[in-house]
Amino acid sequence: MASLTIRKLDDDLKQQLRLRAARNGRSMEDEARQLLKSAAGESSEMAAPARPTAPPPSALPATAERTATVPSANGRRIVLIIGGGIAAYKSLDLIRRLRERGAKVRVIMTQAAQQFVTPLAASALAGEAAFTDLFDPASEFDVGHIRLARDTDLVIVAPATADLMAKMAHGLAGDLATAVLLATNAPVLIAPAMNPAMWRHKATQRNLARLAADGVVTVGPNAGEMAESGESGTGRMAEPLEIAAAATALLGSVLPATPGPLAGKRVLVTSGPTHEPIDPVRYIANRSSGKQGHAIAEAAAKAGADVILISGPVNVPDPPGVTVIKIESARDMLAAVQAALPVDVAVLAAAVADWRVAHEGAQKMKKTGKGTPELTLVENPDILATIAKSKTNRPALVIGFAAETETVIEHAKAKLARKGCDWIVANDVSPQTGIMGGDRNTVHLITQDGVESWPPLSKTDVAAQLVARIGKAFSSEVGTGSR
Ligand code: C5P
Repeated sequence: MASLTIRKLDDDLKQQLRLRAARNGRSMEDEARQLLKSAAGESSEMAAPARPTAPPPSALPATAERTATVPSANGRRIVLIIGGGIAAYKSLDLIRRLRERGAKVRVIMTQAAQQFVTPLAASALAGEAAFTDLFDPASEFDVGHIRLARDTDLVIVAPATADLMAKMAHGLAGDLATAVLLATNAPVLIAPAMNPAMWRHKATQRNLARLAADGVVTVGPNAGEMAESGESGTGRMAEPLEIAAAATALLGSVLPATPGPLAGKRVLVTSGPTHEPIDPVRYIANRSSGKQGHAIAEAAAKAGADVILISGPVNVPDPPGVTVIKIESARDMLAAVQAALPVDVAVLAAAVADWRVAHEGAQKMKKTGKGTPELTLVENPDILATIAKSKTNRPALVIGFAAETETVIEHAKAKLARKGCDWIVANDVSPQTGIMGGDRNTVHLITQDGVESWPPLSKTDVAAQLVARIGKAFSSEVGTGSR
């Protein structure tokens, strides 16, 4: 049977295929396969590559990366630091994805990374020798670690192991990778990957918060099966296409050439539902998709803010250029919010569960044949009220959401007073509105000055309009004044 080699296609065709592939979030091989399958009359659904944890790229919302007709890393210089974890094999694919987007990629590998993938493989994909040693006379003579650090537009660390994150957070510089990270002035994007217990550990979360405060942007980690058999949880490295999207966004639209209206501001957003465990396999949840909160985080980043998004379990991708902290329960969310303070603005859009079970089972509950179990519920902490009423760390502008199914405005006004926030974005989430999980939203903005009813808009447009209002509030110093 004849075989087709993409490398041997003529340059024009290759370029067209590269652009189609990048636009659809596929590899060039997958794109070619997709074209052949649709030509043969097969459904595109069948041809779409399976992705166990992230939604298929073609289902992603319109981020800058996906609406741009040409991927935007053209001619940009990226240093990719590969850390020592099993996810290092995905970083080889990441080199290709970045080069497909026109970036020039220089690879640095830690000693541990070389246990998982070889410098030869990385060099072949990058088109130049990978750097491995701080004290290598050849490469020090050739470029040197300071030039490696300076002659770049972006540094990506993928996988960012717990060890590398700890070294970065403490400014250690004992090898080439950490020396370059300490010497660079370029933005740094990390894609953490580690065992879920290591990710959840307070030390790692402390290091993550430290790195976020230093301006390091994070993509992932995702939840799902781990390479270790039988392990699952949050800790899988983001997929190469997600990392490439975050990288191009950081290089392009999210770092605006002129300072955006929220430049210099730290914005915290909560999004999605929370999951309240009943036992190790069951939980209480709600139908929040995270679309509105994620869109707000993305819009704030585009406006130049330094954004931390604290998200419950959702199926929407991480917004580019945003530090994302993934949590499950309301109590985790409160702890993450408090760790992220101080911030200038807090937009608490998450649908936090009001109750959790009083006694979480340590083992899966069994049917005993003696009737059904009774679940006693206790109230969760109110994150919005806690932050809005904080005496020490209150953000200048605290915005809450009110999802109601009746007398929306009256309930929302009462909530504004009860919770002590500055603004409330209220919407009707009755099933017939299709707002919960849908792409559109009809909201009322409630402040101390009154009620503004916005027309039906896409969730992206609601986000853009809200961020514009926040920018206006800060420019006229009415952020807290309009309370
Ligand atoms: O009380 P209700 O859940 O309707 O309030 C909604 C607002 O309060 C949202 O902004 C939501 O993020 C926030 N909230 C919270 N913590 C809770 C419950 C709600 O921050 N436990």
